[in-house]
Amino acid sequence: MKKLRGGIVGYGFIMEKGHAAGYKRRAQDLQDVDVSAIADISPERRAVAQAQWPAARIYDDYRALLAAEAGRLDFVDVATPPSDHAEIANAAFERGLHVLCEKPLAASIDDARGMLRNAVRAERVLYPCHNYKHAPVIKAVRAVLESGRIGKVHLVTLQTFRNTHAKGVTGWRPDWRRERRYSGGGIAMDHGSHTFYLAFEWLRSYPIAITARTATLGAFDTEDDFSCSLRFPTGVATAHLSWNAGVRKVMYTVHGERGAVRVEDDDIEVALQERAPDGSTGWSFERQAISSDWMDSSHVTWFNSLFDDFKGAIARGEFVGREAEESFLCVQLIATAYASAREGSRELPLGGLTALGGDDLHDRIVMKDVSHA
Ligand SMILES: NC(=O)c1ccc[n+]([C@@H]2O[C@H](COP(=O)([O-])OP(=O)(O)OC[C@H]3O[C@@H](n4cnc5c(N)ncnc54)[C@H](O)[C@@H]3O)[C@@H](O)[C@H]2O)c1
Repeated sequence: MKKLRGGIVGYGFIMEKGHAAGYKRRAQDLQDVDVSAIADISPERRAVAQAQWPAARIYDDYRALLAAEAGRLDFVDVATPPSDHAEIANAAFERGLHVLCEKPLAASIDDARGMLRNAVRAERVLYPCHNYKHAPVIKAVRAVLESGRIGKVHLVTLQTFRNTHAKGVTGWRPDWRRERRYSGGGIAMDHGSHTFYLAFEWLRSYPIAITARTATLGAFDTEDDFSCSLRFPTGVATAHLSWNAGVRKVMYTVHGERGAVRVEDDDIEVALQERAPDGSTGWSFERQAISSDWMDSSHVTWFNSLFDDFKGAIARGEFVGREAEESFLCVQLIATAYASAREGSRELPLGGLTALGGDDLHDRIVMKDVSHA
């Protein structure tokens, strides 16, 4: 495959520290990607982008970038706040470009659905940044589950603790996550995707119902505390996400027929049931630390593996693959969770992938080579 030529929209925190830093390493080590154009609405961020990418052409509007550059690009990497993801991605599809998009895919179900449909229509790849799947300790959980040692999983718990909302760069609106018009919601919108796609993987199915509760301790119009319970065909999951915690930490437990896995940041513990000769049950424990850089919220060390998958999807012509479908399901879950919370935590059914539309969308998710890739 020839070198992929990328354009960037939104040169804020995650782009500078996560993606762009990853592209620089990749451009040096693998020489398979090049960033030649960058758009950001903030003059301060454009100056940062220009200083870091002296050869790139810099734009103050994504539309200007697409109009001038589309013919010289293969993909656009979108890392603006969620409310703009759909508009930018759809414009890129119209110009024949693949799209790598930060989570959440969009701030509404309709926007997310439209993005998947436009990707299929344009025959271009839509790939979400589900980067937690690429954390080394999460890869270790995958290996344990695939080994079959703890048996089939029927229960998952996921907790994400943060002592504040994540701040954006000072050159724009650092507290946009607390402004619904930009974020679409609070911690569920910001962090729910990571929580939900991990639950899908560990329970090997997609949820059918959700009950949720939100709370807001600060004077903002987005929630800073979120909890929910999900019913899957294969089991149950519960999640608690908070920006009001005393520590920054992820804690996951995955429970199978014969044991369990517990993750606390880098630490992973595998508990295996053992039957004693007298018939009683005990457990043996294996513990190790797998360095995963959880405290670096740019997660730059996970980006290379994520980009490999995006590149693979382009090579295969997998325009809307499993990751894109799951990013739609994450948005559906977040929106349905908010509806449940508004209705006093009533359990609400989930439409699943059928909510993508009753037509031939799936038949059109074709697997073929993209001519220019
Ligand atoms: N996957 C992860 O681990 C992870 C981590 C952090 C952020 N994110 C996601 O990345 C996205 C950006 O978050 P951030 O923390 O980098 O925010 P940020 O505020 O630091 O950066 C956003 C940038 O987008 C620019 N911008 C805003 N609207 C724009 C538009 N219409 N066109 C062009 N530029 C525009 C701003 O000027 C700013 O430079 C969000 O979707 C967020 O959820 C993901």
